[in-house]
Amino acid sequence: METLAKKIENLKVEKNAVVLAHYYQVPEIQDIADYVGDSLGLSQQAAKTKADMIVFAGVHFMAETAKILSPEKKVVLPDMNAGCSLADGCPPSQFADFLKSYPDHLVISYINCSAAIKTMSDVIVTSGNAVQIVESFPKDQKIIFAPDRNLGGYINRITGRNMVLWDGSCEVHDILTTEAVVNLKMKYPDARLIAHPECKAQLLELADYIGSTTALLKFTRTDSAKKYIVATESGILHKMQLDSPEKQFYVVPSDETCSCNDCPYMKLNTLEKLYLSMKNERPEIVLDPITIEKARIPIEKMLRLSELAGLIK
Ligand code: 13P
Ligand code: SF4
Repeated sequence: METLAKKIENLKVEKNAVVLAHYYQVPEIQDIADYVGDSLGLSQQAAKTKADMIVFAGVHFMAETAKILSPEKKVVLPDMNAGCSLADGCPPSQFADFLKSYPDHLVISYINCSAAIKTMSDVIVTSGNAVQIVESFPKDQKIIFAPDRNLGGYINRITGRNMVLWDGSCEVHDILTTEAVVNLKMKYPDARLIAHPECKAQLLELADYIGSTTALLKFTRTDSAKKYIVATESGILHKMQLDSPEKQFYVVPSDETCSCNDCPYMKLNTLEKLYLSMKNERPEIVLDPITIEKARIPIEKMLRLSELAGLIK
């Protein structure tokens, strides 16, 4: 009998489809994907793919971004309920009201937001380019940063800016505590702490290295330590372990009942749902042309600025 993985491979050819997956997807999805990456890499791939259909193994805002960058392609998401607490925590009408209080501010939004928020933004960033993009604007430029207060606070601290922050957070990273880190530090005193900037400031203060998903991966490949305490989503361990089989990784747990930290939205996608979305070509991401046109401007600006900063080729 044909395995699901084989059926997916056949459908890729039959439908000229590409599977793009985020590092937080379950290992079996990462293994069949044509490209696995962080938000920046995924948007770059979505912009340049020659496929007719993009099967996006990630969450809704990521699939929406792919549709905005490649509107002529069919974009399917294995589970339409794969949302994100950051995107959901920034409703467009409230954000529009918020902006009215800061009419002379530039609006920089983290890619983890809805297409509607993107249409109200001047430039989009990911955790892989946020610092460099903020730094590309004059020091006295007034800026609103949305929707992640933790990432925004981190950028403020390292760039010496005072961006106005929307009060949103990632429920997966914001929940991680310094106590949980200290417990692991006591068990593994020679392990280095690496953290995603969506974590709280108190936790980031303890970190030996802070970076986007791809940056964390690169660090563990090139750094000399043998053990790492990892303050981000558990899915990243699959690639970390593949890249550095001789090293040990310990995820900071979200509570005392497990030794993991899973994003409930990312984990809604399964190999079976991915296969069905490819076969049935739905659920499909549909956006109106005006939203696509407006939201595309700040995303393309991000890609241009990232290229100028030498972050992407
Ligand atoms: P990056 O993949 O850009 O590091 O973002 C992490 C994340 O939480 C995605 O939802
Ligand atoms: Fe959103 Fe956080 Fe899940 Fe990423 S990990 S999709 S930011 S809830």
